[in-house]
Amino acid sequence: MSGPTEPDPTSGDRQRLAQSFDASAAAYELGRPEYPEEALTFWDDHGAFERDNVILDLAAGTGKLTRLLPVICELHAVEPLEQMRAEFARAVPDVEVLDGTAEHIPFPDDHFDAVLVGQAFHWFDHQVALDEIARVLKPSGGLGLIWNEDDIDAASWLSDVVDEKRATASSTLIGDHPVMEMLDGHAGFGDVETFECRWAFDTTIEGVLADVLSRSYVSALPPAERLGVLTRSREAIERHLGVGVETIAYPYRTTAFWASLSPTDSA
Ligand SMILES: C[S@@+](CC[C@H](N)C(=O)[O-])C[C@H]1O[C@@H](n2cnc3c(N)ncnc32)[C@H](O)[C@@H]1O
Repeated sequence: MSGPTEPDPTSGDRQRLAQSFDASAAAYELGRPEYPEEALTFWDDHGAFERDNVILDLAAGTGKLTRLLPVICELHAVEPLEQMRAEFARAVPDVEVLDGTAEHIPFPDDHFDAVLVGQAFHWFDHQVALDEIARVLKPSGGLGLIWNEDDIDAASWLSDVVDEKRATASSTLIGDHPVMEMLDGHAGFGDVETFECRWAFDTTIEGVLADVLSRSYVSALPPAERLGVLTRSREAIERHLGVGVETIAYPYRTTAFWASLSPTDSA
């Protein structure tokens, strides 16, 4: 099973691209989807959301995932970029978001029942981050990963928009991520369970364009090229759905993972 089809930032461009979320934080908040309820039920079935569980949303961004988490749990968030944290504070005022990274999580050992990562694990230095996540998890804890991916087979307008935005990314920056292999290959984590579903997020043309702009490989482009991508994306949507379309169902394929700490780590 592979992970995201967002650009694979394992190249030297990772840090530069990761920083680009700061400039597009408002677009991120406007355009990006939340996550389907079924995926949260999948984590719940693995015990993530029992009453008083202590949960960390790691790489929380603007809080798209945090805001869906049950308030019967004690919720925490960590995000390295200031503008993303500012959007988070507006969108999810009841949860404090701390400055930190997956490689340096600002919490003590054995603290969390679950660490959750939405749309971000591919940005991490994986082995360092997995060691760090294992450190902050209680022995009975688990790691949940989730990605929303464009379901390009579900809508021809989306297929054209994806062609436009992807045309700007170098081919070496696009690829699948072997999430299962990474987790299975890490001594700290035991069995990995997966969940997949397809769903649609209701948005507008401005929402779709904000989503395009929030992609790291688009927002990092020089302004004229970025504008070109947005203009051609708008044209593609209008060609398929008509000028003045109001509501757009944006189809997604969501993949979630749950990995428990392995018994040896918890001994
Ligand atoms: C695509 S956004 C996902 C945000 C949020 N989790 C969501 O579900 O919408 C990726 C986030 O990962 C963060 N990030 C990138 N590298 C990171 C790292 N090494 N440690 C922690 N967060 C990181 C970025 O700042 C950005 O907010």
